[in-house]
Amino acid sequence: MRVLSGIQPSGRLHIGNFFGAMRQHLQLQAQNEGFYFIADYHALTSGPKPEALRLNRYAVAMDYLALGLDTSKTIFWCQSDVPQVTELTWLLSCITPMGLLQRCVSYKEKVAQGLTANHGLFAYPVLQAADILIFDSQLVPVGADQKQHIEVTRDIAGYFNNTYGETFVLPKDYIIDSVAVVPGIDGRKMSKSYDNTIEIFEPENSVKKKVMRIVTDSTPVESPKDPDKCNVFALLKLVASTEELAEWDKKYRQGGTGYGDAKKRLVELLLEYFRPYRQKRQELENNIDYVKKVLKEGAEKAAAVADVTLKRARKAMGIE
Ligand code: ADP
Ligand code: TRP
Repeated sequence: MRVLSGIQPSGRLHIGNFFGAMRQHLQLQAQNEGFYFIADYHALTSGPKPEALRLNRYAVAMDYLALGLDTSKTIFWCQSDVPQVTELTWLLSCITPMGLLQRCVSYKEKVAQGLTANHGLFAYPVLQAADILIFDSQLVPVGADQKQHIEVTRDIAGYFNNTYGETFVLPKDYIIDSVAVVPGIDGRKMSKSYDNTIEIFEPENSVKKKVMRIVTDSTPVESPKDPDKCNVFALLKLVASTEELAEWDKKYRQGGTGYGDAKKRLVELLLEYFRPYRQKRQELENNIDYVKKVLKEGAEKAAAVADVTLKRARKAMGIE
């Protein structure tokens, strides 16, 4: 099955991104034909600083490669290195009803959060549809927040096929819901936009400091605590073994254990979990030319596939 997904380089990747998306992307590469890319054209819609975007593109690439993205099986590239998607975006735009985009909640939400409403932000789902359709993707693993974008993609592909004849494969979504939303250190959803993240590869002492700052309630050490309402416990769930988690659950409910103890253990477990990948991440950091080469080769492979689909669409529409 051809599996495609993109991740925006809108900041450093965090453990919410890992447990909510990347882990599944990496698992899916074993049995499938993986197409994964760094969605820098999408990131542009929220107006990042050029220097930050430049660095984050490579940081995302290094994170994926360090965590096990296998370039001998999976095609991995940076979206803007395959500009065929922008041409397809235009072709698709000319068949996308305004009403379809006006109904998209992510645009409305971002505007409500105070982001300036540029045209790119409004047209974002059409670019995403082009990303998906240009590679004849069959399965698109994404978080629940992206479900509507996959539906829009199917709608656009359907309109196109009905109008111009069978051209695009209709993709299926694969909603990653194996973990609930990972909370940030302030208890809201962990997100690059809230400054509440624990980055996958931030220095170990900084991981420790952040865990120690995780917001908890003021239940005294001796009193029983509700693990289901605790941000520390929610993170322990991601990294502790089933047996250890059951023990923590018991300790919380019995009382006599402070949140500080749970935090100390969480630091150990988080560091242990990602430690095997840190060395690889450091090697990549010291060898940026290798990272650039990997992305360039990925872009060449991706472009070869994109060219074929783009030609098909151009021809169907009468411009070739
Ligand atoms: P962010 O909110 O940090 O900018 P993105 O919107 O770029 O994250 O999300 C990239 C991927 O990571 C998506 O598939 C999304 O569902 C997943 N993801 C992001 N934050 C979390 C979280 N706190 N918990 C679970 N999954 C998350
Ligand atoms: N919009 C997605 C996100 O914010 C990223 C993305 C861009 C994507 N193009 C895609 C995801 C195509 C899946 C398929 O998470």
